Amino acid sequence: MYSEKVMDHFMNPRNVGEIPDADGIGEVGNAKCGDIMKMYLKINDGIIEDVKFKTFGCGSAIASSSMATELIKGKTIDEALQVTNKAVAEALDGLPPVKMHCSVLAEQAIKSALLDYSKRHNVKIEGLEDIEFDDDHHHHVEEE
Ligand code: FES
Repeated sequence: MYSEKVMDHFMNPRNVGEIPDADGIGEVGNAKCGDIMKMYLKINDGIIEDVKFKTFGCGSAIASSSMATELIKGKTIDEALQVTNKAVAEALDGLPPVKMHCSVLAEQAIKSALLDYSKRHNVKIEGLEDIEFDDDHHHHVEEE
């Protein structure tokens, strides 16, 4: 049911933890399953120098957040913004259809952290304006 990559990132998640002096912090949750994902970004000169995450959730959510951090580490803000939940799932060699929403959490966590960064540092990030978030750091992902 799960690919080797999903199992690997679930058993040995990369970049777990938090960044005390993070430039952007995003937190998202899925109201249905109650899983929560928190992502910390260290950004310098438009480059994501470091990223850490904490996920209280299912194995697919842990694997998705681990993979998402790998995909955006060392990348530009723009490149990070291009990382969709599909890209995360593909990088994991696929997720079962009923688990695709777990990868959505990873995409939203990245965007939520970038939005927090843009607000705190007064930087405009092209493409982020269209995304609707609440004012606090708790964003909820709706399932289709
Ligand atoms: Fe909730 Fe996977 S079941 S994120």
